[in-house]
Amino acid sequence: MTLTVQVFAFLTCITVMVSYCEADRLPPPTGLSYKWLDPFTVNLFWLRPTGLPDDCEIEYQVQREKGKSQQTVHGNINYLCLTEDVGSAGCTFNVHTVKKCNMTCDRNMSTPVTITAHSPYKVVHRDEVVKNFKCLTYANKMECSWIPLDPSDDLTLSYRICGVTFQDPIKSCNKLHHDGEKSGCYLNDNTYTEDICMIGKTKAGQMTFKRLYEIPSPKLNVTEEGNQLKLSWTSPEIGKICVWIYEVCYKQCGNPIVCRNFTTRGEPMRMAYDKRCRYEFQSKARTDIYCPKIQSDFDTIVYYGTDEPPDGTLIEVAIVIPIILFICIILSCYCFRRHRAIICPIIPDPSAIFKEMIMNGNKELKTTTGSLYTPMPEHIDPCRITLVPENIVLKQNS
Ligand SMILES: *[C@@H]1O[C@H](CO)[C@@H](O)[C@H](O)[C@H]1NC(C)=O
Repeated sequence: MTLTVQVFAFLTCITVMVSYCEADRLPPPTGLSYKWLDPFTVNLFWLRPTGLPDDCEIEYQVQREKGKSQQTVHGNINYLCLTEDVGSAGCTFNVHTVKKCNMTCDRNMSTPVTITAHSPYKVVHRDEVVKNFKCLTYANKMECSWIPLDPSDDLTLSYRICGVTFQDPIKSCNKLHHDGEKSGCYLNDNTYTEDICMIGKTKAGQMTFKRLYEIPSPKLNVTEEGNQLKLSWTSPEIGKICVWIYEVCYKQCGNPIVCRNFTTRGEPMRMAYDKRCRYEFQSKARTDIYCPKIQSDFDTIVYYGTDEPPDGTLIEVAIVIPIILFICIILSCYCFRRHRAIICPIIPDPSAIFKEMIMNGNKELKTTTGSLYTPMPEHIDPCRITLVPENIVLKQNS
């Protein structure tokens, strides 16, 4: 091979390689796979696409299904994948090769390679194994409690601060205790600035979820001041420097429930008070956006005031008097019916009598005056008249 041929071959190779890097589409990464670092952290790894020259600067864009994408120059990345979010379907990721460049250049994205990381355990959902699960944060402790749906298959809980870069050991939730049907345990960490990821295990399966920062519901205190109600709360034990938003839902005089959000740093809130109404309050608290997310559940119902009739005399007029009148009418009807003969004896119609007299219609008179005397027809012997011959009379006389 002459030098010119060598140079030509070299140049051709360079051109091919450069055009590969500059091509319409970069080739996707190869060998995409995953492993679980712990029950909630999945590690994705892959290889650089084959056939790309080393000087072709690329990076990878990893996108979680329905999630934001991340860029990395490395061949692996860690993700938090909780069964509470994805169930047994697992977490699906798309990985693209993209050209490394600043914002404005064409990143020349490859087709994606896709993978789904399935949990190695049988996945259960919290609602399938326990009810009333909550972890409450107090000033000096955190307690999780729940009611197992199958008492013979109770939950064991362990936890660690979430975060894919943490290599914190997983700790178990201590001092498992039972109180009636309720079970509970204590967490040693008392932070509320970090998310805590939890693993719940039962014989039925395993679940992973993020623990919400919940506090016991602050007690609502209602007092009256002039035409207003003053609402105040026992301040939460944690988040003392936080601004709290209290969502108050109330019912007044049997009207539909109305909810309002009150933002307070501890000073009481005021609302108009209708003294003729009984109020039913329920409230729950949460921090505003400038504090870590802490919240409570709705407290038990607090009652205030009594339902009063709008106007005493009006009620009387509207209800009592009609009732009395009604009773009187019923009674008088009854009396009337019983003593009708006395109160209203049947009087023959005088006009009819007169009419009869004038018209001389005996029949009608009889029917209208049923109780009057009706003479029995007397038996009268018919008068027999026999004609006596004149000569007999004469004979007798002679
Ligand atoms: C109060 O705040 C919560 C949470 O932001 C919201 O869902 C609710 O609609 C708000 N209620 C009212 C009455 O504004």
